[in-house]
Amino acid sequence: MTAPDKRRRPRRDILITSALPYANGPIHIGHLVEYIQTDIWARFQKLRGHDCWYVCADDAHGTPIMLKARAEGITPEALIARVAEEHKADFADFRIGFDNYHSTHSDENRYCATLIYARNRDKGHITARNIHQAYDPVEQMFLPDRFIKGECPKCGAADQYGDNCEACGASYSPAELKNPKSVVSGAVPEQRESEHLFFRLADFEPMLREWTRGGGLQEQVANKLDEWFEAGLKEWDISRDAPYFGFEIPDHPGKFFYVWLDAPIGYMASFKQLCESERGRAAGLDFDAFWGQDSTAELYHFIGKDIIYFHALFWPAMLHGADFRTPTAVFAHGFLTVDGQKMSKSRGTFIKARTYLDHLNPEYLRYYFAAKLGPGVDDIDLSLDDFQARVNADLVGKVVNIASRTAGFITKRFGGRLGVELPEPGLFHEFAAAGEGIAEAYERREFSRAVREIMALADRANQYIDERAPWVVAKQDGRDAELQGICTQGLNLFRLLIGWLKPILPGTAEAAEQFMQIEPLAWDALSQPLLDHEVAKFKPLMTRVEPKHIEAVLEASKEDLAAAQAQTAGQPAAGQGGDTTSGAGHVARDPIADTIDFDAFAKVDLRIARIARAAPVDGADKLLQLTLDLGGETRNVFAGISKAYDPAKLEGRLTVMVANLAPRKMRFGVSEGMVLAAGPGGKDIFILSPDAGAEPGMKVK
Ligand code: MSP
Ligand code: ZN
Repeated sequence: MTAPDKRRRPRRDILITSALPYANGPIHIGHLVEYIQTDIWARFQKLRGHDCWYVCADDAHGTPIMLKARAEGITPEALIARVAEEHKADFADFRIGFDNYHSTHSDENRYCATLIYARNRDKGHITARNIHQAYDPVEQMFLPDRFIKGECPKCGAADQYGDNCEACGASYSPAELKNPKSVVSGAVPEQRESEHLFFRLADFEPMLREWTRGGGLQEQVANKLDEWFEAGLKEWDISRDAPYFGFEIPDHPGKFFYVWLDAPIGYMASFKQLCESERGRAAGLDFDAFWGQDSTAELYHFIGKDIIYFHALFWPAMLHGADFRTPTAVFAHGFLTVDGQKMSKSRGTFIKARTYLDHLNPEYLRYYFAAKLGPGVDDIDLSLDDFQARVNADLVGKVVNIASRTAGFITKRFGGRLGVELPEPGLFHEFAAAGEGIAEAYERREFSRAVREIMALADRANQYIDERAPWVVAKQDGRDAELQGICTQGLNLFRLLIGWLKPILPGTAEAAEQFMQIEPLAWDALSQPLLDHEVAKFKPLMTRVEPKHIEAVLEASKEDLAAAQAQTAGQPAAGQGGDTTSGAGHVARDPIADTIDFDAFAKVDLRIARIARAAPVDGADKLLQLTLDLGGETRNVFAGISKAYDPAKLEGRLTVMVANLAPRKMRFGVSEGMVLAAGPGGKDIFILSPDAGAEPGMKVK
């Protein structure tokens, strides 16, 4: 046996983070690029025997979260508690193996944020000055740029945000917008003065230039930083006025830390909580050993390319100013597109983690992203046809197939027992020797290369089985030993492949470990073959992706949109951003739409309808199928009200419907109109009930 090289490999202390998702919306497949990428890397490091810790948290502060809670009529604390549970369940089901998941709205984070602020302040890195800012006189609050809309000062396009124009691409300040309106109340914003605190980023220029050149940044990112250095480092506004959901600044009552000040500090807070947990204490985890100035541990942040400025400039500067160590590296990734386009709600490609999980195996997406991910910041595309083809060909057709072609014989003919030796040890060692190259690819985050190399070996293993044709050998007398040998060889090659794929496919690897009846696979132990050992009866480890499952995800994503629209009809309620992915916060309430003239309004034919039948819709948990009687004519309408109404209790009631809405084809059938409903959503949504005396079919005036 070749000596495992683990003795030559020093053990490393590694702390890994993913960016903290905002606590006002669900995890979607765009986010998952990051969490899957990070999880694969963290699992790889653990598999290699390093002391590796992976932490994350919800990013729970800021104006969008405050306003969303308000729109739902709940406290921000209640909102973030609910979202935290949803996030954690989504991550667990995608097998994102966090060692700790915390919240920025926590005691640990308040402590760390206050400490980092105070140390920077005491060294003179914080200054105060007055600024003018848009103020909503109705809501009595200052407005972030994204909460002001108006006409673009350059091209005149209507309904543009306060920071830039989506029509012509111009950037400007909110004060330049024409006919500005507050997104929160619709009021015309005023300019008001207020004192703000600023972090003097320029104080850190020499340190940041050195850190940038220290090898911890991807080349494209380092180049971007050079541009920012050339443009000059500006002071950073780290305070916000009340009302704000965040931490009050201790020496400035009524002022709060800006969400982006305490967000990255959330990495520390989550790790601190881990250190103080039973598990952390048992492992002897020491906070200072990871965050202290002379830490020898490695610290890595995985982030999307949209938040580089915060992680490559503000964050190391803040840490340095507060006498903490700086990150070893920041790894940025690109954005997800689906079939070459931005995720879109109307196309059904804005896919929530939960919607995906309702129909598809998480291992498929983990594999597909791994097969596409490199170390750079290029965007990655989820091509749905390619997704299906690749998962079926590689995972089902190649890897799992090796086991299904050999395991049956071991069970049926040899009582589950593997042979005592390999018929072709040379082939096994040839495979095992590829392990270091694969490890190197993982280490460099060249996951697509790792996958390519593993799949080339899977081809080779299948070729071996083809050549030895165990199904032929099995039919001939006196060739039992040979048959057992071929299958033992095949299963040992399978074991290597699954071991290498384990960071990507933790669920499949676990099922394979159970089948092989072995301890959890670790990288260094892989090169020892599994011989003279009893395996369990083989069960298929993975099934094929069926087009109907993908179709169901797309339809359900459209249904989510339809349900959301049905819920908000008649009343501006909590929204989740626009039609496309937005990395930044979301508006809390949809702005009042552009005015329509009276003629357009008069075209809306509102009618009294009797709910003749109401029934749940199979596979759509928010929808009810209503049969509406318009006094002679009936209509089939899908309404997103199943959380609010027991269908049995609706039958016989009168409501108001839009009778001349163009029919819309949905997965479950054609919807021929819309019932009017209002409310914040979920259980609290109310259909309009007309007074007694109304008759089905009567026009509503
Ligand atoms: N809360 C901030 C991060 C604070 S870190 C101290 C934030 N949250 S986010 O929910 O908008 O995004 C979380 C991570 O997911 C970010 O790294 C972001 O780049 C990434 N992604 C969000 N949408 C994405 C895609 N469509 N594609 C790939 N990554 C995406 O930013
Ligand atoms: Zn414009």
